[in-house]
Amino acid sequence: MALTLVTGGTGHLGRDIVDRLVRGGHRVRVLARSPGARPDIEWASGDLATGAGLRDALRDVDTVINAATHSPVARRGGFRPVDFFRSPSAVDVEGTERLLSLSEALPVRHFLHVSIVGLDEATLPYGRVKLAGERLVRESRLPWSVVRAMPFYYLLDALLAGLAWLPVWPVPMTLFNPVDTTDAADHIVACAFDGTHGVRAEIGGPEDLSLDVLAGQYRDARGLHRKILPVSLSDARARGMGFVVSHGVRGRVIWSDWLRRRYSPGRAAATAYET
Ligand SMILES: NC(=O)c1ccc[n+]([C@@H]2O[C@H](COP(=O)([O-])OP(=O)(O)OC[C@H]3O[C@@H](n4cnc5c(N)ncnc54)[C@H](OP(=O)(O)O)[C@@H]3O)[C@@H](O)[C@H]2O)c1
Repeated sequence: MALTLVTGGTGHLGRDIVDRLVRGGHRVRVLARSPGARPDIEWASGDLATGAGLRDALRDVDTVINAATHSPVARRGGFRPVDFFRSPSAVDVEGTERLLSLSEALPVRHFLHVSIVGLDEATLPYGRVKLAGERLVRESRLPWSVVRAMPFYYLLDALLAGLAWLPVWPVPMTLFNPVDTTDAADHIVACAFDGTHGVRAEIGGPEDLSLDVLAGQYRDARGLHRKILPVSLSDARARGMGFVVSHGVRGRVIWSDWLRRRYSPGRAAATAYET
């Protein structure tokens, strides 16, 4: 049976990709720095930042889904001043380059790379790093696909949680359509096996909502009493920060339903935050 290697298979999106592959009857191998215990997939120990284990991870692989990343903001769930000046490239650029060059020497039939909507105008360092990684894929000799996704709900949730201590939340009035990782994973897995290559349709969420409206829904789902102060952001600055609307494929999960599930009574996670 053809084998699919998923990098980042332990991450938010990667776990949903792996679930769908397994449900679809695919043979799956996950490249991970710390292999997990899930018994229905193969684990390959490796590190994109150093190249350790990559050759073994790629053995007999037919399809690669590259969903690994090192985003300090996503990892810690908030911005620090340093994020406006630099972002590490060892995974997203050098790691992608290593994976591509090893894959090119093997009979890999499809290399699908996960990217982000609106990168061409990105001003934040992480976006520029992602764009550099994406360009390497587009220049590759392999049959490749690039699938760009809108920001994920889990990240928006974490960023808004960072505002929770403030009595007034200054939030830009800018439209965008973040998406759930389950919807992104559905689209990515479909793209991996539909026999088509190249720049693929983007995946975004079903609703175009202003960020201050999204923040209001978040506040209400958590039962917080905070004032939201809508602030205006120029179009150029908004696009530079990734606040765009994607008109590609639309996911199905809406933000308010995602929040309801996340913060429904009885969810321990909901009480982990200060109200
Ligand atoms: N987050 C968003 O809002 C968003 C939006 C659009 C597109 N994307 C893209 O979607 C993809 C997945 O994002 P995500 O938010 O799901 O990421 P995530 O939850 O932060 O997971 C990142 C994954 O990359 C792995 N990884 C990190 N460093 C590695 C290394 N040195 N070697 C091998 N694996 C390593 C992590 O493994 P460990 O378990 O070892 O940490 C983890 O599995 C990325 O390409 C990202 O750019 C994200």
